Amino acid sequence: MSNYFIKNLEEYFQVYRRSVRDPETFWEEIAEEHFLWRKKWDKVLSWDFTKPEIRWFENAKLNITENCLDRHLPIRKNKTAIIFEPNNPKEGAQYITYKELHERVCKMANVLVDKGVQKGDRVCIYLPMIPELAVTVLACARIGAIHSVVFAGFSSTALATRINDCDCKMVITSDGSYRGKKQIDLKGIVDIALEECPGVETVLVVKRTGTNIKMKEGRDVLLQPLLDKADSYFEVVKMDAEDPLFILYTSGSTGKPKGMVHSCGGYMVYTAYTFKNIFQYRENDVYWCTADIGWITGHSYIVYGPLANGATTVMFEGVPTYPDFGRFWHIVEKHKVNQFYTAPTAIRALAKENYEYVERYDLSSLKVLGTVGEPINEDAWHWYNNVVGNDQSPIVDTWWQTETGGIMISPIPYVTPTIPTYATLPFIGVQPALMDEEGNEIKGNQVHGRLCIKFPWPGIARTIWGNHERYRDTYFAAYENKYFTGDGALRDEVGYYRITGRVDDVIIVSGHNLGTAPIEDAINEHHAVAESAIVGFPHDIKGNALYGFVILKEERESRDSNELRKEINQQITEQIGPIAKLDKIQFVPGLPKTRSGKIMRRILRKIASNDTDNMGDISTLLNPEVVQEIMDNAL
Ligand code: WTA
Repeated sequence: MSNYFIKNLEEYFQVYRRSVRDPETFWEEIAEEHFLWRKKWDKVLSWDFTKPEIRWFENAKLNITENCLDRHLPIRKNKTAIIFEPNNPKEGAQYITYKELHERVCKMANVLVDKGVQKGDRVCIYLPMIPELAVTVLACARIGAIHSVVFAGFSSTALATRINDCDCKMVITSDGSYRGKKQIDLKGIVDIALEECPGVETVLVVKRTGTNIKMKEGRDVLLQPLLDKADSYFEVVKMDAEDPLFILYTSGSTGKPKGMVHSCGGYMVYTAYTFKNIFQYRENDVYWCTADIGWITGHSYIVYGPLANGATTVMFEGVPTYPDFGRFWHIVEKHKVNQFYTAPTAIRALAKENYEYVERYDLSSLKVLGTVGEPINEDAWHWYNNVVGNDQSPIVDTWWQTETGGIMISPIPYVTPTIPTYATLPFIGVQPALMDEEGNEIKGNQVHGRLCIKFPWPGIARTIWGNHERYRDTYFAAYENKYFTGDGALRDEVGYYRITGRVDDVIIVSGHNLGTAPIEDAINEHHAVAESAIVGFPHDIKGNALYGFVILKEERESRDSNELRKEINQQITEQIGPIAKLDKIQFVPGLPKTRSGKIMRRILRKIASNDTDNMGDISTLLNPEVVQEIMDNAL
């Protein structure tokens, strides 16, 4: 019998050791006993991090939706699979059973196939957090189409880039979306994006807000009438374990976003197994992850991981502050949520408000609290623990990435003793290493270094869509035979890990990864801007906020500064989305550069963080005099 459900610390250590000593046997047992395969694998794992090439469950056949839906029907057909909690609480929740979800996915699959979508085709999904989002994701998986979900807060330019990068032939969207008091014109954004996307043949439109939209003849079709006519059964398409399941874009420090490609087999096994253990999910629990399905957290821990375990998963359309700051806690009480998974930025924002917003509600159903996306600071951790968890619910600080597919370092609740701000121990099968800048592994405890992973795990992304070389260069070139995460970490005296943050030019703002380069490109497109550099600085709620240093073209220097700041942020909103807006913009005469012309961000980071006591050696700069001037005028 495999250890699918870990119940105590001794068992964790024992299973961990086994998973590291003989990973193939370990994962083979998990895969064999807990999933439905149409054909077994010939080989559990082949890998070579130099190419890099990673294959799990080679030549096995499956369909992930058969694992997430069909196999539950005999035992759980009337169990709620998805609880949909709408933006406006007055609208009332929807409870979608496994049987209904199966039927809706089948109908959607039939619609997609009728519209000409075939195995391997890319379908872009640009939808708010409504049930159709989960249904279309699963319908794509059922027919073997590769879904590319784009977070519905991205701008038309960002959407177009992602549609074109992987040649989507279809886009699925809605007329509009609700976010708190606001209504957003999603279809309008899609229309603008598609002016740049000649490859898109069909747009399927879900009605959500009922607003007036333009429908383009021959391209745009309302979804509901098609679903009404569709057959309610669709036989799954058999997929190879290594066939791509989806593409999800994440920011890199340079260049365009990276379309991370995840597999059907390994991803399923890894997300399901991590979900079960890290949330200690039991049959009748109600689990809620507040992320958006537009991010990896939503893919792995709203849709695939929970459904593969036959869980009840909550999908929330709205925001934590609407109609008031008690919304999260109201939902926990209303649906008797047992496991609650959110981001530190949301915790910090809510912790600022009156306790009354939490205390008004009965949160006694909670058993596990989770966080993800960025380091959690001590104050936020304690507030979460005391005020929300009443000191009763262990906090799982889960470290992972879009690239890792599932959680990598995390406590197992009721198993691993927790310490605030520590992600604690590697999950089963995960082999971390800390590296120094010379490329040597730092052994022992009480050390700090760059976080790498030494051995493949089933959930690792297999490539970057259309650019395998970039995949190698980004993740496997820095350290020989290791996957490099881009994060720094320390390992304390007992071997617990604490993630200390990015060591590259990715900045995490409110839990969203933002690369500096694309934002700088957007700023530089403004007609008054000559050059710019952005860095992160600490922010009470967002974790980090963005600080831009901007050199203006000479003739523009007389323009009103605040007007210009607004325009620059507008430019960023249009190119990327409002999440990438700058909190501070300082106009500077020059940027500190090395003699080879590289911007010294280290110096700018110090100025932005108001930490200028020790600037280090700046004498080697091309233009050291500019540093004092920037410091004198810092915001
Ligand atoms: C950061 C999100 C500290 C980290 C699942 C990582 C964290 C990046 C944590 C990936 C955590 C994620 N503690 N930092 N518990 N979780 N991060 O791709 O820098 O959106 O590399 O995946 O978020 O962000 P991504």
